[in-house]
Parts: sequence; C-alpha cells; structure tokens
Amino acid sequence: MPLSKPPLADTLDRRMPAAHRSALAGVLIPEAALRRRIALMGRAIARDYAGKEVLVIPLLSGAVLFLADLLRRLPFPLRVDFLGVSSYGQGTESGDLVFNKDLQLDVRGAHVLVIDDILDTGKTLRAVTGKLLAMKPASLRTCVLLDKVGRRVGSFEADYVGFRIPNLFVVGYGMDFAARYRNLPYVGVLKPEVYAPKPARRSAA
Ligand code: IMP
Ligand code: MG
Repeated sequence: MPLSKPPLADTLDRRMPAAHRSALAGVLIPEAALRRRIALMGRAIARDYAGKEVLVIPLLSGAVLFLADLLRRLPFPLRVDFLGVSSYGQGTESGDLVFNKDLQLDVRGAHVLVIDDILDTGKTLRAVTGKLLAMKPASLRTCVLLDKVGRRVGSFEADYVGFRIPNLFVVGYGMDFAARYRNLPYVGVLKPEVYAPKPARRSAA
C-alpha cells in the first residue's frame, strides 16, 4: 500500500498540552493523521484477508493503542492473542530480546497478522516471525504503525506500514521511554536531553 509521510522533524507542530512541553520537542503525527491512516490500513488489510479468519498477534506493550484503533477498522472474523516481548537495551538502543508472555491460542494453520508499534533495527520482528513460522501458520504477515527505515540492521520489511519516519526517538500512542508517555494520544518526539541528559558541569574549585 502507498506510504504516507509525516511532517519532517524541523516542521514539528509545537502545539501540545503544557504538561508535555518540558519533555517533547513536538508532535510528529497528530491524532487526525493517525485516524485517517489507520482507516486506510484497515481497508487494505480487509481486502487482503477477504473470506479468511485472522489470528491477530499484537506485541506487548507498545502496540496496544494502535491495535485498539486498527481492530475497529477490521470488519472480518478474527481472534486476538498477545505476545510479550521486551528488548533490554540502554536508553533508546535496543538490546537482548526476552519473551515475557506466551501465546494462548494455537498458531498452526492460522492466518497470522503480527502487529507492532514501530519497526526500528528489525531485531524484534525478525525474532518474532522466526518463532511464529516454526509453529507452522497458514500465512504470516506483519503490520507496523511506524517504520524507521534508516535504522535497519540486516533486511526486514513489514507488509503493512503506517508512516515512514526519520531517525528520531518517538513516544506516545503506545510508545514509551522508560515505561512513560504511552498515554499521549499522538506520536511525539522526545527531547534528546530526556534520554541523553547532559553531564552536570563542574564548577571551578
Ligand atoms: P527493533 O527490534 O530495533 O526493530 O525495535 C523494535 C522495538 O523497539 C519496538 O517494538 C519498540 O518497542 C522499540 N522502539 C524502537 N524505536 C522506538 C522509538 O523511537 N520509541 C519508542 N520505542 C521504540
Ligand atoms: Mg515494542
């Protein structure tokens, strides 16, 4: 499906609640743009899965807001089962992957659609799709809201992508930094000083 571009980082919308201004550089993707794009994604997915029942597998926890809005746009029979995966990295860098919640439903023979918030290095979705393919689904596709193409390590492409974004650390709409900011209703850009605080200046003795 054709890709949709969010505004560039230097044209970020700085209109946001005062409570967010100290941590955020601005809004990258506002609520209305998310809504419009997710409606289009829902239509493309519905076309591709016509006549099939789908097993939707969202990854915890970043995909939950995206999932809630996308599910309402999928007008066909489906089941949902969450998979928990965390990347124990430093700050904004992804590290070793840990699966922390297993599936309850049987993947064998199912049409599986994996949903995640953001495709970055590709490590998470490569590991997840590898694990799921070993369970012999009838088909397997991936769907992400955001794709930071410039950060990929090795090759991995998602089947459905909401927005391609530049290499910025984003939060909100399910995405976090240190478990915070998931509740913002838009995708915002975190100020670098939040994730890489400047060392305190030493005063002369
Ligand atoms: P990957 O394994 O490097 O592709 O990273 C994917 C995971 O890292 C995503 O599911 C997110 O949880 C997290 N992540 C990557 N970039 C960002 C970001 O800019 N903000 C918040 N989380 C991110
Ligand atoms: Mg994630």
